[in-house]
Amino acid sequence: MQKLLFSDKEEPLKAVNVASVPQRSPFRYPGGKTWFVPRLREWLISQPKRPRLLVEPFAGGGIISLTAIFESLVEIALMVELDEDVAAVWQTIIDGEAEWLAKRILNFEMSRENAIAEIHIHRKLTKEKAFQTIVKNRTFHSGILAAGAGFLKNGEKGKGVLSRWYPTTLAKRLRAINLMRDKLRFEHGDAFDVLERYKDDEEVVFFIDPPYTAGGKKAGSRLYTHFELDHEALFATCRKLKSDFIMTYDNSEEVKKFARKHHFMAKPIPMKNTHHAAMTELVIGRDLSWMRGVDRVLEDRDEYK
Ligand SMILES: C[S@@+](CC[C@H](N)C(=O)[O-])C[C@H]1O[C@@H](n2cnc3c(N)ncnc32)[C@H](O)[C@@H]1O
Repeated sequence: MQKLLFSDKEEPLKAVNVASVPQRSPFRYPGGKTWFVPRLREWLISQPKRPRLLVEPFAGGGIISLTAIFESLVEIALMVELDEDVAAVWQTIIDGEAEWLAKRILNFEMSRENAIAEIHIHRKLTKEKAFQTIVKNRTFHSGILAAGAGFLKNGEKGKGVLSRWYPTTLAKRLRAINLMRDKLRFEHGDAFDVLERYKDDEEVVFFIDPPYTAGGKKAGSRLYTHFELDHEALFATCRKLKSDFIMTYDNSEEVKKFARKHHFMAKPIPMKNTHHAAMTELVIGRDLSWMRGVDRVLEDRDEYK
């Protein structure tokens, strides 16, 4: 039976206006968690002491790790990502080549023809691949890098490939990240390996945002090259983690079933998707009492009795 807890003392949950959150990532990332940033702050501040390390095993555009280090909410952040295009960008920054990448972006003359020519060159160097990734990410529909994605046709105000190409903004973001580079770690690898490695570490917190493909959902499979995931195994792995974690997931029956099975809490929180439609996603963890301003709490333990 579903039980909803109401409290009239607290502020109702409101969808976050993402424009109020500093955008620090060079990516426009499908499934990006900019909207989650205010909750991330609450969660990290609620920790008994400042975590030494934030592990983000499905890093994508990295807004969570970047926010955590820019705002000194953790000492260091470790991002892990399987996608080699995305990995090339993070690796380039870690290798100290952010300035090279910034200049490459500033000096590129963006047009549909030049973008097509660039993405068809076989690039070997990581930093060249990084540039190619940025070109694709900024000129493809919704920033989708997976096979089958196509160029923005009209984009904003009919500007086509130029409508998301902001070279000076991108250069500024890359330079800002470069200044924080000593606090950032990156691994091109598998989420499960890194979760396994840190499972007994008590000075770590985990932010886990997998592709949304549980319960046969298709959303994640369109958006990412690596979308297949054993969601059941991910929940079982999270249960083994000694320190605190949160997961974000689509609000689906299958996901709630996994949460209940592992005695986690799940709270729906509002967000707006790229089409500005209001919807909810689930935040999952062992204890979500740190979430303030909640007027509607859906606890899996209550919900599934
Ligand atoms: C929902 S997105 C993460 C979005 C990210 N939180 C952001 O704000 O931009 C999921 C990411 O997980 C990556 N991924 C999928 N399977 C993976 C795996 N086994 N290990 C590491 N990354 C994986 C995908 O390439 C995708 O970038």
